[in-house]
Parts: sequence; C-alpha cells; structure tokens
Amino acid sequence: MHILAIETSCDETALAVLKGEDQILCNEVASQIELHRRFGGIVPELASRRHMETILPLTEEALKKAQINFEEIEAIAVTNGPGLIGALVIGVSFAKALAYALKRPLVAVDHLHAHFLAAFLEEKKPSFPFVALVVSGGHTCLFFVRDYLKYYLLGQTRDDAAGEAFDKVAKLLGLGYPGGRIISRLAEHGDPSRIPLPRPMREKGLDFSFSGLKTAVVNLVKDLQKKGLRIPVQDLCASFEAAVVDVLVEKSLRALKALELRRLVVAGGVASNRRLRQELQQAAQEHGFDLFLPRPEFCTDNAAMVAVVGLHKYKQKIFADLELDVYARSHVPKYKI
Ligand code: KG4
Ligand code: ZN
Repeated sequence: MHILAIETSCDETALAVLKGEDQILCNEVASQIELHRRFGGIVPELASRRHMETILPLTEEALKKAQINFEEIEAIAVTNGPGLIGALVIGVSFAKALAYALKRPLVAVDHLHAHFLAAFLEEKKPSFPFVALVVSGGHTCLFFVRDYLKYYLLGQTRDDAAGEAFDKVAKLLGLGYPGGRIISRLAEHGDPSRIPLPRPMREKGLDFSFSGLKTAVVNLVKDLQKKGLRIPVQDLCASFEAAVVDVLVEKSLRALKALELRRLVVAGGVASNRRLRQELQQAAQEHGFDLFLPRPEFCTDNAAMVAVVGLHKYKQKIFADLELDVYARSHVPKYKI
C-alpha cells in the first residue's frame, strides 16, 4: 500500500510516499526561501509559478527515492486548503491529472489536519482523544481531536499567527527572512528576562493574539532609535521568543485542563522552535501529561503529514472527485466547552 502525497499550500513544494501506516519512503521538500527572500515575504504569484516548475521533476525524484513506479501508487492525497489559492491550484490540478491518468482515488487533505496527524509518523503515537496545538506561519489553533478524522476547533488567533509574529519582528529588526529560525538562533545568546514584554490574552480563554506583542516590540525599537540607543538584538529576540512560548504553553495547559485530557500534540513550523519544545517538555513533566512532538522536519511544511490524513481517508473511502476545489481558509466546527 503506497500513498503519494502532494503539498503546495504555501512556499514549499513537497512530495512524499507513505508505505503502510507510518513508513515514509521519501519526504521531498523544495523550499522557495531563496526566491522570496529579497521581497521579505512570500509573493503568491511567484510561489505558484515555482510550484509549477518544480512539481513534476520533484515527483519523479520522489518515486526514484521511494523505489516505486507510478503503477504502484494506490491513492493520491493532496492539500486543497487552507493556503494560497494559486499555489494550492497547482498541487490539486497535478494530483487530479495523476489520479485520472493512473485511475486511482484522489484524497483531499486539510493542511492543519495534516500538521497534527504528523504525530502518527513517530514511533510513540498518541491515542484519542487529545488536544492539538498547530502553530505555523499562517495559523495558531487549538483543536480537540476525537479520532483520526473527527476534530473541533477550541481556539485560534484573532490577529497574527505565532510564526507570522516571528517573521514580522525579524523583518522589523532587519534580520532577514524567514524570521522564526533566525530569531530563535539569536535568542540562544540573549537574556529572555531582560526586556519585559506583554503576554496578550495569556490569562483569558483559548484564543490567541500576537499583534499587541509585535506592536510592543515596534514601539520599543522606535523608542530606542529616537534616543539614539543601541538595540539589544539578542536580548530582544530572547524576550520576544519567551513571551510567545509562554502564551503557547499556558493556552495548551488551559485546553488540557478544560477538557480533562492528558495528551497534547504540538505541530506546525513554530513547533520546531527549540525553546517551545523545551518548555513543553518541562510542562509535561510538571503537570503530568503526555507530549507528542513530531521531529522538526515533520513540523515544518512537508507532504509526509499529508499522506497520514490521506491514509485514514482512504481507509474510510472518503474520496474526492475531479471537481475538487481549493479554499483559502479552514472551516473546522467549533467545540463549545
Ligand atoms: O508550518 P510552516 O512550515 O508553514 C506554514 O504552514 O505556515 O511554518 C512556517 C512558520 C514561519 O513563520 C517560520 O518563521 C516559523 O514557522 N518557524 C519558526 C521556527 N522555524 C520555523 N518559528 C520559531 N522558531 C523556529 N525555530
Ligand atoms: Zn503549515
């Protein structure tokens, strides 16, 4: 049983082949970071064009690495949202063409769903139900996950996503793009308690807000510049990172408590952040819950995670047809506590 999975929702063209339940035969990611760097952010039209150029050669490379041919693919799973419409269309059109030509079922996958089911690619797998925190460049969401295909939204960001805040602060400080990894590297040499920064909505509900924190950094930088003072970049990165991590850990704990659950899955690009991983591990020990953190390459955008959702939809025969559309925003039903 081989599933070919395709992911093109943002700025990564990714292809993976899953064998059986959790054997990843290949996990190819063609990053577009270099293409977008000089613009300081993703240019959607350029992303679509690059996906178009990359997708076929990357598929051929993926199959070569997996040592299978097209005939051995049993189903094709593809992300059809949420994400950049033009980028999604490339992956979905390609998947439809493959499904049609190979006469194989097509499976539609939600990107956020894929992020948290990435936990099933690791040896230690969560059992249901669990709480999932997805923290990426476009999303910061808490989910109540009842089963492979049954999940509900507990809370989400009201403004910026956590990764977006990292990227914007890095841009403000002139550190480059994408900001998450750069900030966390600089933060390692800084003092996280040096600069007091707000923890927006930390004590309230399960929604998030990061734009106030970003504005606090903007104001601080402006103030220092006006006074002609040096910006303590490393301390600022460390203090900013600590504020984001604090909120993410606190909200996850609150969700676990509200639902009386003891299992937490954390995924998405920001889940590769070292400080977040350490603080979550510490919280798990202190509060006695089981933590499931996929390895970093399964946290940032990839197609292996898409294949996991593909597998479970395939098992339940939930197939898409050639009319399959793409969507920019998720519509996960809300769970009222
Ligand atoms: O999940 P992902 O690869 O793509 C989206 O679906 O958005 O997440 C990308 C986001 C970017 O905002 C990036 O800056 C952030 O994840 N990120 C990090 C780290 N690595 C990536 N943020 C903080 N620390 C990191 N080490
Ligand atoms: Zn993502």
